[in-house]
Amino acid sequence: MHNLFITILIAVFLCKSSVESLSGGWKSIPNLSDPTVVDIGRFAVDEHNKEFYAALTFGQVVKGESQVVEGVNYNLTITAVDGSAENSYVALVWDKPWDQSRQLVFFTGPI
Ligand SMILES: *[C@@H]1O[C@H](CO)[C@@H](O)[C@H](O)[C@H]1NC(C)=O
Ligand SMILES: *[C@@H]1O[C@H](CO)[C@@H](O)[C@H](O)[C@H]1NC(C)=O
Repeated sequence: MHNLFITILIAVFLCKSSVESLSGGWKSIPNLSDPTVVDIGRFAVDEHNKEFYAALTFGQVVKGESQVVEGVNYNLTITAVDGSAENSYVALVWDKPWDQSRQLVFFTGPI
């Protein structure tokens, strides 16, 4: 029983450290026209519209960085048109490609 407990502890520890070693710092995204990046930007605006009954129209991604954490976090600065005014917003999206799930972590702006 005692051994089993220790084995579980070690397994949890190994698992945790392998996840940590997979996650890195923020790296700026070299190509903001990358279809995945544009898709994430569009997704962020769509989600924000749904959550806040807003009606922003996605423009483009003007700045972005990504971080590997059990998937990829995207921190994007995007432009969107609100009525007739074009503004910039910052959105953080957590993308987990293997289970095709995306989550809008936050959306702030206009900045
Ligand atoms: C950026 O990505 C787009 C779409 O994939 C591609 O057309 C373009 O050539 C890329 N630009 C650079 C500088 O790699
Ligand atoms: C995301 O990017 C914006 C604009 O560059 C920056 O102000 C903000 O601190 C970043 N957020 C995170 C969580 O890195």
